[in-house]
Amino acid sequence: MPVTVVVGTQWGDEGKAKIIDLLSRDHSYVARYQGGHNAGHTVVVGEEKYALQLIPSGVLYNHVTPVIGNGVVVDMPTLFSEIDKLESRGISCARLKVSSQAHLIFPWHQLHDALAEAKRGDDKIGTTLKGIGPAYADKARRVGIRAGAVLDPASFAAQVRERAIEESAVLVALGGQGVDVDAVVAQFATLGARLAPYICDTVNELHEALDAKKQLLLEGAQATFLDIDHGTYPFVTSSNPVASGACAGTGIGPRDISRVVGIAKAYTTRVGSGPFPTELADASGAPDALGQALITIGHEFGTVTGRQRRTGWLDLVMLRHAVRLNSLTEIALTKLDVLDTFDEVKVCVSYTLNGETLRGYPDRAEVLAQVVPVYETISGWKTSLRGCKTYDSLHANARLLVELVEKIVGVPVTMVGTGPERDDCVIRS
Ligand code: GDP
Ligand code: IMO
Ligand code: MG
Repeated sequence: MPVTVVVGTQWGDEGKAKIIDLLSRDHSYVARYQGGHNAGHTVVVGEEKYALQLIPSGVLYNHVTPVIGNGVVVDMPTLFSEIDKLESRGISCARLKVSSQAHLIFPWHQLHDALAEAKRGDDKIGTTLKGIGPAYADKARRVGIRAGAVLDPASFAAQVRERAIEESAVLVALGGQGVDVDAVVAQFATLGARLAPYICDTVNELHEALDAKKQLLLEGAQATFLDIDHGTYPFVTSSNPVASGACAGTGIGPRDISRVVGIAKAYTTRVGSGPFPTELADASGAPDALGQALITIGHEFGTVTGRQRRTGWLDLVMLRHAVRLNSLTEIALTKLDVLDTFDEVKVCVSYTLNGETLRGYPDRAEVLAQVVPVYETISGWKTSLRGCKTYDSLHANARLLVELVEKIVGVPVTMVGTGPERDDCVIRS
């Protein structure tokens, strides 16, 4: 199997990093294909916890070459702070390769992000304020600056200056704050010089690895329902996390991909605004008692922004749609242990709208906001699954949940997460 894609199937934070870390053992390259430092990917190794934003989750292994693909937007200050933190903990980032075609994030992107959110008021997206949307907007309108530009420092400085002057004027005209052009040019000249040795023609590098029969893992950030095309627009991110985004975001063609692993939490979470049919919250949006239990037991607070995540039951209508959108070959069901103390566990198996059962997943967020979930209920297992490593050692009711997922969505659940630690996982053959 030369190329594996790992993709989030819900609204992010499904535990992608933990599964990628696990799969990295059998892969030589791990390449991020979209998103930026809006991602927060946690890997727990014994007492050590690594929270990664831009660097691929395979970095913890010496045999892995981590790659930031062309589809990613790169914030250099975050990248270097991450590299410094990892290297101070003995993890070498010397092998890291950054695509010359990846786009760079600049301070005006963050200012635009904040300004746009403020202008939306109560309708705000709830972005991470990392400048992701504005950076992708600049890429689409062909005024972005690519990472490879740092290889020519004089031209890079001139491009940064030109864009800084333009964007500063736009920000001020919109009622915001401009940037200190000279300071930004100086700061980014220094950052650019540091980025230069990492710049690589990653498309060629990955294809040479394929030719040499190396195993490649393409790491998705965010998730299917945050996808700019297939998510709950406009409450989405500005890239294509779906598996097909891995092709555009790395330069690997679809026929090279043989395995697509969808990561699904055993319940659902969402950070930021947007419809959420199975949410466990009251009319004001505050979590109810069960929603609060999921937050507390599952530690559902954002890695990047610290925001409390919204929580709800597992939604198999979403998951079935994620199987279609991503051509999933299998599912990793994570955080099953978080449900250990629940008296019963509900799973949404269909939606109704105005009393009629819907055939598919609604194509518009406005419709999704009105659907009523139909649940199947499974008795709780009321026993600790923490650290279980074999399928048979899972309580029968927990296995019922796994098998219900397989029955409704039609692909096998090959991994089950039973704790945050690297090896807290059931791997089913
Ligand atoms: P990602 O963005 O999809 O990589 O997920 P995050 O790292 O943002 O959030 C997942 C959180 O759940 C992290 O704190 C992980 O350490 C933790 N986690 C992952 N898998 C499991 C699991 O099976 N059980 C428990 N209890 N925690 C898990
Ligand atoms: P990982 O990779 C969860 C959400 C934000 C907001 C929307 C748009 O850790 O799963 P953006 O800053 O991207 O313009 O925000 O997307 N969001 C995430 N939610 N996990 C993430 O990443 C996310 N990255 C962005 O909260 O609702
Ligand atoms: Mg996360």
